[in-house]
Amino acid sequence: MLDKSSKKYHQLTPDLIICKILNGMWQVAGGHGFINPELAIADMMRYHEVGLRSWDLADIYGPAEDFIGVFRRRLSTLKGKEEMDTIQALTKWVPQPGRITRSIVKENVESSLRKMNVGSLDLLQFHWWDYSNPYYIDALRYLFDLRDERLIKDVGLTNFDTETIQTITDSNLKIVSNQVQYSIIDRRPEVKMIPFCKRYKISLLAYGSICGGLISERYLGKVEPSGAELNTLSLRKYKRMIDAWGGWNLFQELLVNLNRIAQKHGVSIANVATRYILDKPGVAGVIIGVRLGIADHISNNLQVFNLTLDKSDINDIENVCTKSDNLFEKIGDCGDEYRS
Ligand SMILES: NC(=O)c1ccc[n+]([C@@H]2O[C@H](COP(=O)([O-])OP(=O)(O)OC[C@H]3O[C@@H](n4cnc5c(N)ncnc54)[C@H](OP(=O)(O)O)[C@@H]3O)[C@@H](O)[C@H]2O)c1
Repeated sequence: MLDKSSKKYHQLTPDLIICKILNGMWQVAGGHGFINPELAIADMMRYHEVGLRSWDLADIYGPAEDFIGVFRRRLSTLKGKEEMDTIQALTKWVPQPGRITRSIVKENVESSLRKMNVGSLDLLQFHWWDYSNPYYIDALRYLFDLRDERLIKDVGLTNFDTETIQTITDSNLKIVSNQVQYSIIDRRPEVKMIPFCKRYKISLLAYGSICGGLISERYLGKVEPSGAELNTLSLRKYKRMIDAWGGWNLFQELLVNLNRIAQKHGVSIANVATRYILDKPGVAGVIIGVRLGIADHISNNLQVFNLTLDKSDINDIENVCTKSDNLFEKIGDCGDEYRS
């Protein structure tokens, strides 16, 4: 059982406590280097041992749900069922927008349950990118039916915009969370999403908070990388965000400031960027992508829990951001980049 009074954890729902840093599994889906399944499972054990036990995944993240299933079985064999039950696995369902029936929803949920080797999904985060297709409300109603049957503990969303969440809450569907891109660079949630979520007690799970690793010492003082030099899908995705936000020179100014703050506190640039988003109202957790079996930032990311940013740190970060372009005006609300 996780100790919710610890500063590492957050009570997301009455029956779900998550770690405030969640391990993101998009990175096992391809485009982030070859993932060796054996090394990946061994690495999952290392995250588990230091208390990073909350995983963010999706039905569309390649073998991610299978990895959770294998990992749970291994943990049960090695340490017992009780230990296995200290894992939280937050998956997603990302259907092709179209006619959705009760049996389609049930089949997909049952597939996730089977792969993940769980009796009930901790959180099912639903994604839909075509709001002109109204079947998303049907899909959600069926998901709530499955929640009532305890096949899902709670229903959340990902990349939904504020207006559509309003439609969902107006339909009496009580979602608990929305997973959105949120970083020092991409502050779109602050415009409409956070005030709305505060009113309706919906938590935010943030991703992209260190821009695929761009917000780190690795890129401090470096010339602008070409597309070919950025060797993961994640780096390329967030480099496009930086271009829209203000470009490489302004980004370097931000990194210099973050580095000064990081050195003052004896932590890393990524730690400052993560803490800054974790401290935002309504943010229940920051998802940091993990390249299992390839790269390791475990001990560094744990430092986030001992970091407190002061007023002058926040001012330094926000002063740079006043020089940037407004991504809400350029791109739109949360997730609009995924919609046509
Ligand atoms: N709902 C959605 O549409 C959506 C979209 C994107 C992501 N997500 C979720 O969010 C997760 C996060 O992924 P993301 O793509 O947004 O990536 P991210 O968390 O911004 O970046 C992850 C990368 O940052 C680097 N990193 C991690 N800790 C570091 C540290 N302390 N210092 C320096 N570098 C560090 C690592 O790069 P190296 O491995 O190269 O060292 C890691 O692969 C995904 O796995 C997924 O679960 C959801």
